[in-house]
Amino acid sequence: MRTKVAIIGSGPAGLLLGRLLECAGIETVILERRSQEYVLGRIRAGVLEQGTVELLDRAGVGEKLHAEGLVHEGVEFCFDGDRHRFNFQELIGRTVTVYGQTEVTRDLMRARDRSGLTTIYEAENVSLHDFDGDAPKVRYVKDGVEHQLACDFIAGCDGYHGVSRASVPGDALRTFERVYPFGWLGILVDKPPVADELIYAHHERGFALCSMRSPTRSRYYVQVPSSDRVEEWSDQRFWDELRRRVDEEAADDLMTGPSIEKSIAPLRSFVAEPLRFGRLFLAGDAAHIVPPTGAKGLNLAASDVAALAEALIEFYAERSSAGIDGYSARVLSRIWKAERFSWWMTSILHTFPDTDPFGRRIQRAEFDYLRTSAAAARSMAENYTGLPF
Ligand code: FAD
Ligand code: DHB
Repeated sequence: MRTKVAIIGSGPAGLLLGRLLECAGIETVILERRSQEYVLGRIRAGVLEQGTVELLDRAGVGEKLHAEGLVHEGVEFCFDGDRHRFNFQELIGRTVTVYGQTEVTRDLMRARDRSGLTTIYEAENVSLHDFDGDAPKVRYVKDGVEHQLACDFIAGCDGYHGVSRASVPGDALRTFERVYPFGWLGILVDKPPVADELIYAHHERGFALCSMRSPTRSRYYVQVPSSDRVEEWSDQRFWDELRRRVDEEAADDLMTGPSIEKSIAPLRSFVAEPLRFGRLFLAGDAAHIVPPTGAKGLNLAASDVAALAEALIEFYAERSSAGIDGYSARVLSRIWKAERFSWWMTSILHTFPDTDPFGRRIQRAEFDYLRTSAAAARSMAENYTGLPF
């Protein structure tokens, strides 16, 4: 089999890259280790930056997103029970849209199916070859049979644990990492959200987030130590803990019910450099991880593949390698700014095992500064709604 761009991974990065290239008439094949149902069963991110929404529109997959997504003009921070709203619309004239990653993935899969493009699910033992030359290949096993896919380029969109980054010789790659000593325990519940907008709460007992997927489905998170197991958290224990960490009004208004999903996500900051190795590119979680505070993970995957698609389109249209040569530096500049913002939001909103009384006063001062300075609030709003692609 032969294609122009072999894409490894059918998460949002791989599927959106495939769609953007399809719009420019560039053929792709996607190889995915899991089944389609498994990929759609993962509950992950929920907030789309305005630039991501615009990109999905340009890719012709924005219809359901506009019909069902919830446009939010602001978010709230709650610090030890004091709540403050950041009005993005007023501060910088931008908004975010609440629309689950599962839905984005489903919309992109449907569009790809409709176009009759090839996605090979349950592709086992995917391996990358000869990407340092002009004729890269990807090998994989499907139903016990080994196959080879010849291509012009390989896009590694296979997440943090994928094979693409692992295929790069160790001495060609520099990595930067920070692992946090806590995770987010998240639950999904078929009850209306506690408030119209998201509430990011800081409390001595730890961070909490009140989010949503629709007017009738809520998503809540509490910070838990990395050593906690999901089995240790009954629904009742979760609700009790969440109530303690938010303000009184939210605690009173909270509508609880049986969880329909419950999982713990670890928190990590990670960046690999560079992101191009001959004819192999890394994009999305294969290239970087942000802690979820600030909802940047999915949005960064989108901005990476927007730049990669542009570079590849330029290559095929003009036979110019300027775009692909510049890909890594271009996206890393935006990636590091999102890393900075996610790290900052994580640092002010969480309780760290080594946070001393001085550290807590600094966290409080950050909150008071944000609450009272229009310049600080604008900076927060600009980053939360997304820096330019
Ligand atoms: P992925 O979505 O990880 O997709 C990669 C795909 O590659 C997967 O389908 C995987 O099965 C496939 N793959 C892996 N290895 C191979 C292989 N060897 N061969 C073929 N295919 C392979 N972000 C937020 O902003 N908010 C959140 O609340 C949030 N929660 C998260 C919870 C969890 C548990 C995780 C893991 C991430 C979360 N994120 C969150 C981050 C966000 O979901 C990711 O940034 C986003 O999924 C990145 O998209 P991607 O396409 O790069 O990677
Ligand atoms: C959600 C996740 C986030 O990381 C975030 O910052 C906001 C919302 C969510 O899953 O709804």
